Amino acid sequence: MTSAVGTDTGSNYFVAGDSLRLIEHPEILPAGFPLQIKPLPIKNRYEGDKGAIANGAKLFVGYNCLDCHGADGSGAMGPSFQDGRWHFGGSPGDVFESIYQGRPDGMPAWGGRISNEQIWILTAYVRSLSSKDLSTENFTGKTVERTGH
Ligand code: HEC
Repeated sequence: MTSAVGTDTGSNYFVAGDSLRLIEHPEILPAGFPLQIKPLPIKNRYEGDKGAIANGAKLFVGYNCLDCHGADGSGAMGPSFQDGRWHFGGSPGDVFESIYQGRPDGMPAWGGRISNEQIWILTAYVRSLSSKDLSTENFTGKTVERTGH
């Protein structure tokens, strides 16, 4: 298969940079250049894999994601991962991209610093958190719905 956007070897591992070009951004159409290439769907081989998710939980602590995103991604100065709301999209490709390239309001870029494989493992972990109970206790003891970020 030849393609201008790279070749999927079937391994789901892309060399640094390639993975980003494969993510669909239908909202961004380059002026004068109709989108001719149908982007490949991004699959995370670790999605739903219990062992990988357990490893992701350890990486989440080890890389201090927890400091900004709270224990179990419950939210702190960085957004919660439990509320099912995503600023930058919640698909595996979107979450990979958030971690890989960082986000403007304080999310560091991890691409090139940690392996793409670890980013996919973190992606599986982060996505696994959002099925949790959306409500939380605030300091008054009243249960309130998280307002997101
Ligand atoms: C220095 C604090 C900090 C650290 C460390 C950090 N983050 Fe973030 N992260 C943020 C902030 C702040 C945002 C929101 C950025 C924005 O809105 O532009 C964010 C956004 C994200 C998003 C996008 C969320 C959404 O709603 O779309 C993901 C996914 C994410 N971080 C994962 C991680 C992972 C995984 C790690 C550890 C490898 C990590 N972050 C480490 C501060 C941090």
